[in-house]
Amino acid sequence: MIWAVAHSNVALVKYWGRAPGPGHQPAGTSVSLTLDGLASGARVEERPAGSADRVGWDPPGPVAELSRFVTLARARLGIGHPLDVLITSNFPVAAGLASSASAYAALTTALAALAPGRPSADGLAALARQGSGSACRSMLGGFVQWRPGADAGAVTQLAPPEHWPLAVLVAVTDAGPKRVPSREGMLRTRATSPFYEAWLTAGGVDLTVVREAVRARDLPALGAATERNALRMHAAALGAEPPLLYWEATTVSVMREVWRLREDGVPAFFTVDAGPQVKVLCEPADADRVERALAGVPGVLRVLRSRPGGAPRTGPEPPSWAAPHASPGPPGDEKGPAA
Ligand code: DP6
Repeated sequence: MIWAVAHSNVALVKYWGRAPGPGHQPAGTSVSLTLDGLASGARVEERPAGSADRVGWDPPGPVAELSRFVTLARARLGIGHPLDVLITSNFPVAAGLASSASAYAALTTALAALAPGRPSADGLAALARQGSGSACRSMLGGFVQWRPGADAGAVTQLAPPEHWPLAVLVAVTDAGPKRVPSREGMLRTRATSPFYEAWLTAGGVDLTVVREAVRARDLPALGAATERNALRMHAAALGAEPPLLYWEATTVSVMREVWRLREDGVPAFFTVDAGPQVKVLCEPADADRVERALAGVPGVLRVLRSRPGGAPRTGPEPPSWAAPHASPGPPGDEKGPAA
């Protein structure tokens, strides 16, 4: 049995659009920060020869997609024997907190450890993105760039986590599943939003600013570009038909609270992914004050705190928060014949 743990990531320049055609190619380059506080664990163990793969999520998640991914990954990595797979996370799944990113990065890492060969890092990033696009960014720690192209170097580390110990606070405003999954939202935005092309063009400008701000550890520059990139992604999504509105009333209240903090002289900046949660970047010295302010916004359920996180890791033991799930027998169902 092997466990792998990977961290979620927050996009500073968003991936919101797939290029037409096969291969899960992004339409533009994105940049993310891997978050140590939000993690998924993948437990993988061999099953008897001749049995079927068994996959499950705890709490429950999309089993059919997971099963397809395991079949694909086994074929690509040359894993002959059937597998028992359980994915678990230490934060609300499918609520716009990129649980699929950490889940598929953890699973890819665990499967690579069981593979007979030594798959390359580029090959593993390409595999992870078949599970979820943003998962390829969680294959690395710190500040990570993902550009279109399946070639070597499509996913690269711009800076390691220790380069800039920013604080990231996540205001959870709603723990339910997101209304429209990212995949569908991206397709709809590309197909129907008149703002889609403008969004891609603007993202290219943000990319240059974000890369330079990360290099220079310039929070006002990073924050301004991150905030406007998120708002423009949502503007493109709002222009889709039917419209994609991922925010709740509390989401907007938290965004306004962040602006109020800035008026008070606290450099804090928000970003929002395809869900109602708000992620806020600030200096570690301001994190307590920002956390209190966010927690005080009516409707905020809780505030999660993170620092830049590292690459996935493997081991024989479950992470401490997954200990109750350590015994064999995931809740998932039997799926298809062993590949
Ligand atoms: C808004 O990676 O979840 O969080 O490739 O369809 O699995 P799929 O999408 P996913 O989309 C992430 C969208 C986003 C922005 C981002 O993380 O860059």
